[in-house]
Amino acid sequence: AARPEAFDPGSGLEAMLTVREFEAVAQRKLDPVHYDYIAGGSRDEVTVRANEDGFGRLSLLPRVLRGSAQRDLSVTLFGGQSSMPVLISPTAFHRLVCAEGEIATARAAARAGTIMIASMASTVAVGEVAAAARAAAGDGDPTLWFQLYLQPDMDDTTALIARATDAGCRALVVTVDSPVLGANERNQRNNFDDLPPEMACENLRNLRGDEPGNVRQIAMSPELSWEHIDWLREHTRLPILLKGVLHPEDARIAIAHGIDGLLLSNHGGRQLDTVPATIDLLPEFVAAVDGSVPVLLDGGVRRGTDVVKALALGAAAVGVGRPIVWGLATAGEEGATRVLELLRDEVDHTVALCGARGLADLTPDLVRPAAGSR
Ligand code: FNR
Repeated sequence: AARPEAFDPGSGLEAMLTVREFEAVAQRKLDPVHYDYIAGGSRDEVTVRANEDGFGRLSLLPRVLRGSAQRDLSVTLFGGQSSMPVLISPTAFHRLVCAEGEIATARAAARAGTIMIASMASTVAVGEVAAAARAAAGDGDPTLWFQLYLQPDMDDTTALIARATDAGCRALVVTVDSPVLGANERNQRNNFDDLPPEMACENLRNLRGDEPGNVRQIAMSPELSWEHIDWLREHTRLPILLKGVLHPEDARIAIAHGIDGLLLSNHGGRQLDTVPATIDLLPEFVAAVDGSVPVLLDGGVRRGTDVVKALALGAAAVGVGRPIVWGLATAGEEGATRVLELLRDEVDHTVALCGARGLADLTPDLVRPAAGSR
């Protein structure tokens, strides 16, 4: 069949078979300035490419005849269940790509039974995102986590934590790889530095006064230190994950500061360029953490085989960023749902072909360097 390059509502989303096809369709639908903002990364985008290429440089070596007809793909993280080991990493500004914005994302996550990490820079307030997830989940119990940039003004941070906690978020994912904003030269060339006037960062609206929820209200804070993490530890009872720790020594320090989990991420190649692919860092990172806390990974996950490689190398779950945005851009809630279900099917199929009875059978011996890659 021809690859669907322009989504035809008549033929339905079933025609969309891969995450990459969603990107192709989204690229055709979106304003090129917005497409660049989403697809792009910092500087030469070396890390953007490395994330995807890293998975390609690994092969899978399956086991056989282990006799399992049923495969349980569910994971439990900090007391919350996800029906599969694929979570939604936090991405900003969903109303840029679909009218309902993060409401659509929350519904898709709830329908798929997976965990959504809501971005602090969302264009729908976290309380409304949570309400949409609950309404869509029916009898289910949707899990929402909140991504936080610690603000140098601790009153602002306190107010943001209160909003997330009141909304029922069950963990804080603190992004620590952004002491200053990454340099995205596509955005500079396109003069993209603000949301259209009809959209705002709703979590920042009226935070203390009558702020309009301007993007520039989000302070990137080079002065942040581990003392701020200690402060946070004392000001919330929610589990705290750090997102964007890359150095294994920082993983050890994070654990010493009592954090509950780590999301190994290079921000999809949008912060420091030329950092390694997250999948390449994973084995050393997992060794440093040594089972003390769950390690999650994001960056470049586009296929079920990518998910299985990360889990085999020790990740508890993976996150997807851009794939969800491509799904939203293609067909809103239905598109994001289709992306999640494609990934679920691919993970299940890969697990089966690896001769695994479940995620616990995904062990490091199943992953080998691809011939000629090292
Ligand atoms: C992001 N990411 C991100 N991370 C974060 O902590 N807070 C945020 O607001 C955003 N916003 C954001 C916007 C867009 C458009 C993208 C593409 C990414 C990073 C995100 O959480 C995640 O680390 C990467 O997207 C993972 O890589 P993939 O799956 O996009 O390759």
